[in-house]
Amino acid sequence: VRSFASSHPDLRRSPGVASGGAGGGIEAIPARYKMALTRIGLAGLAVMGQNLALNIAEKGFPISVYNRTTSKVDETVQRAKLEGNLPLYGFHDPASFVNSIQKPRVVIMLVKAGAPVDQTIATLAAHLEQGDCIVDGGNEWYENTERREKAMEERGLLYLGMGVSGGEEGARHGPSMMPGGSLEAYQYIEDILLKVSAQVPDSGPCVTYIGKGGSGNFVKMVHNGIEYGDMQLIAEAYDVLKSVGKLTNGELQQVFAEWNKGELLSFLVEITADIFSIKDDQGEGYLVDKVLDKTGMKGTGKWTVQQAAELSVAAPTIEASLDSRFLSGLKDERVAASKIFQGDYSSGETVNKAQLIEDVRKALYASKICSYAQGMNIIKAKSTEKGWGLNLGELARIWKGGCIIRASFLDRIKKAYDRNGELANLLIDPEFAQEIMDRQAAWRRVVCLAINNGVSTPGMSASLAYFDSYRRDRLPANLVQAQRDYFGAHTYERVDMPGSFHTEWYKIANSKI
Ligand code: 6PG
Repeated sequence: VRSFASSHPDLRRSPGVASGGAGGGIEAIPARYKMALTRIGLAGLAVMGQNLALNIAEKGFPISVYNRTTSKVDETVQRAKLEGNLPLYGFHDPASFVNSIQKPRVVIMLVKAGAPVDQTIATLAAHLEQGDCIVDGGNEWYENTERREKAMEERGLLYLGMGVSGGEEGARHGPSMMPGGSLEAYQYIEDILLKVSAQVPDSGPCVTYIGKGGSGNFVKMVHNGIEYGDMQLIAEAYDVLKSVGKLTNGELQQVFAEWNKGELLSFLVEITADIFSIKDDQGEGYLVDKVLDKTGMKGTGKWTVQQAAELSVAAPTIEASLDSRFLSGLKDERVAASKIFQGDYSSGETVNKAQLIEDVRKALYASKICSYAQGMNIIKAKSTEKGWGLNLGELARIWKGGCIIRASFLDRIKKAYDRNGELANLLIDPEFAQEIMDRQAAWRRVVCLAINNGVSTPGMSASLAYFDSYRRDRLPANLVQAQRDYFGAHTYERVDMPGSFHTEWYKIANSKI
């Protein structure tokens, strides 16, 4: 397949393969497709890229698309044709792709984070001109974005790192978008992003300019950390209901569907209910029971935990969800250990099913508040460190739709930060504080029941411990500090007078007076 523009220099400014072209053919471009330059370009046509390109075209913005493996270009053009002759134009070579876009040109990349992004930038930048802009829509490490933004700036190019959440469906019909970096670049495409992102009644499109540098990627990274927390907490609710409450998949489906009508209304609870309804088409029973209990991961959850540690922010629920994925990966070891530690772990307590379901619902909700509090505090600490000036309420708003953690609950978080933008911790917002107080008895019952029955609830337990640590005015940290001073003369402060003190603990304890 030859490149259209390069073989027709007179049409260098014309889009190549039009979605409306006969059979998507790209040999001869009928005169009717000699149209104006497109509004935007997208490079990287795996499913996410294809879907976002189709979404942009569907919203009425003519788009050029490019992919190194050219069959993906043809596939996308064909889809654009089938999905309503959308204004999408495919190109097999980067020069004609870039030249088909109106200036200042904006190209969104949706390629794998890391080296592929650098390669794509090199390919595109060779053809871009001063003032043009590249947008990375992948799950990129925020420092890579900052490095690239600087390098682009030296070449007179603008750069945005834009987290995009919502999976394939979201990309096609409305994701949540978290663009950070050049404000000027954001302004070029704001009209597109406002239309393409998920639309939430009463709170608007799920996109906002996040802030400078790598803030968009950072916020998306923490979104994923929170996503890990949510998924782990839901999995623990399932485990307690199934292992202790003996609920069947049919009952679990009903419970989660019911929960999805109330305060837990969210995408992840909704899909969980669906999962319990799917029968195995390869054999007897339900598919969920045939899925191997090993969770994969791509890295953003681990980065979130690393960042929490770097920033000295406690994020035990998110950490527990990451650790749970690590432990899940040790399937063979766990199977071997289960033989060593055989026994009856049931406490023998009688469980009232209806009461248990209600308690677990409350425990899940309270645990979730703690997890979000941790995620928000990671973002807040980073914003302070980097001077990003991030608006936490606005982040909660753009997560209300489109993304994986979308939930009605986010509206309450937005309101909490609207009430007090300087909130030290979500837990102390008056409404959340009340909600926790109302649920803590149930929450404690669930964690105790799980412990008594040998069912691990690392996320719920971590959330509860986070709450119990945060709400107590005196912790045993005095003893740890005394130990530090004992063996390392690290000094300590006193509760009753200012200053820094050191005591010869050993000498005094061992002097024979
Ligand atoms: C999203 C998802 C998306 C992806 C995660 C999965 O917001 O649309 O978070 O980015 O599904 O990367 O992460 P793990 O593979 O690490 O679970």
